[in-house]
Amino acid sequence: MASTVEGMMKQAFDWAMIALNAPFAGAVVFGVHIGGHYVAEGLLVVVIIFLLLQKSYKPPKKPLTEKEVDELCEDWVPESLIPPITEEVKFEPSVLESAAGPHTIVNGKDVVNFASANYLGLVGHEKLMESCTAALEKYGVGSCGPRGFYGTIDVHLDCEERVAKFIGTPDSILYSYGISTMFSAIPAFCKKGDVIVADDGVHWGIQNGLHLSRSTVVYFKHNDMESLERALEKITRENKRASKIRRYIVVEAIYQNSGQIAPLDVIIRLKEKFRFRVLLDESNSFGVLGSSGRGLTEHYGVPVDKIDIITASMGHALATDGGFCTGSVRVVDHQRLSSSGYVFSASLPPYLASAAISAIDILEENPQLLRKLRENVALLWKDHWSFTHFVLFVVYIIVLMVVHMQMLKEDYVFVMVSKRSTLDKCNLPVGVKLFVSASHSESNLLKVSDSLNRVSKLILANL
Ligand SMILES: Cc1ncc(COP(=O)(O)O)c(C=O)c1O
Repeated sequence: MASTVEGMMKQAFDWAMIALNAPFAGAVVFGVHIGGHYVAEGLLVVVIIFLLLQKSYKPPKKPLTEKEVDELCEDWVPESLIPPITEEVKFEPSVLESAAGPHTIVNGKDVVNFASANYLGLVGHEKLMESCTAALEKYGVGSCGPRGFYGTIDVHLDCEERVAKFIGTPDSILYSYGISTMFSAIPAFCKKGDVIVADDGVHWGIQNGLHLSRSTVVYFKHNDMESLERALEKITRENKRASKIRRYIVVEAIYQNSGQIAPLDVIIRLKEKFRFRVLLDESNSFGVLGSSGRGLTEHYGVPVDKIDIITASMGHALATDGGFCTGSVRVVDHQRLSSSGYVFSASLPPYLASAAISAIDILEENPQLLRKLRENVALLWKDHWSFTHFVLFVVYIIVLMVVHMQMLKEDYVFVMVSKRSTLDKCNLPVGVKLFVSASHSESNLLKVSDSLNRVSKLILANL
């Protein structure tokens, strides 16, 4: 078959050559003899130019009849607003019908609450409530304006001063929304052309900040210092301009996605060796780590000025809302005109700033809160370690949902099952999260560990 086609093509080619080389196929132009194929090619060029010069064809403009318009409208199917809802993305959040304290009401039932990051047990604290009530009476609820446009209220300045004084930094700046602190502060400093080396387990707020910065982002393996060192070395070695560009390491003190603590001593050594700046998020460690709750720097005995930029949400240990960024006066001042969440958002409701001041006062005046939190965490680890095996084992979300429902239904224990948003790029395994609080009693702890052990046995038996 192939040889027949080949034979036919060869024959057609021979005929064309004979025709083009025939004596009548040439032409003589100004005494110069031109071969047949030149004549054919010349004609083709003339035809192409002629076609290119023609006006393109447009169908006559005839308005559509009303019927045609209706038919077109009926046939039109718009692009779907949202992707199809699969089982995986279906999500029914539990609704709390009372304060998120150590006990709360869910579906009319009193449950032991291990799902709220109320680390110091300040939800419903009398002193916090009193300061909020006084601030509400004085300032009302909202501020109705961004900080730069008549939204700065004296209590904001007091709160910024209080945070800085507590942590030991020269200055700090408040944000109205915990999560916007990270994704505003990061792009305020890190720009296109800069290089950021970030842990691949960071919270979505940080991921978003990295994305918005448009910097080159290199991820290192979650909490793996060898991986961090390799990344820093590669960037420094391979980039001839490395010393001229801004370089940052971005880490969380306690990772929301894994509960791991970042080894700050090693990070500081590497930062100094490779000359990077460090941006540290203390959302889950502020008020928790360190002998007086000052965070990761206190936990490792690292002077706080070794960290260039610290951010934290105030919606966890401080049991209020909003966030702050703290550091040098220049770092803070820069954000007052260059940080989107600060510049363009109505300022933090003053009663929440007032609550944050009171929360820090409570923390400072009551060292037993931190002691109790540590005791509670230790008790859960020591006596009931078997459930950690279970957490490592069971990573399938469907099973986790079962755990959650079982515990809630039968044992009246409310835990957090991390279900990742489709926005979240973190690849760490999902798991059961327990937020231990200083306000949990020993019986609460026994109840949650019994419940976890019981459900884990049940699930393992059914695997
Ligand atoms: C590291 C980190 N950043 C930001 C946030 C969000 O803070 P907020 O809930 O106050 O907006 C969280 C919340 O879990 C967090 O863990």
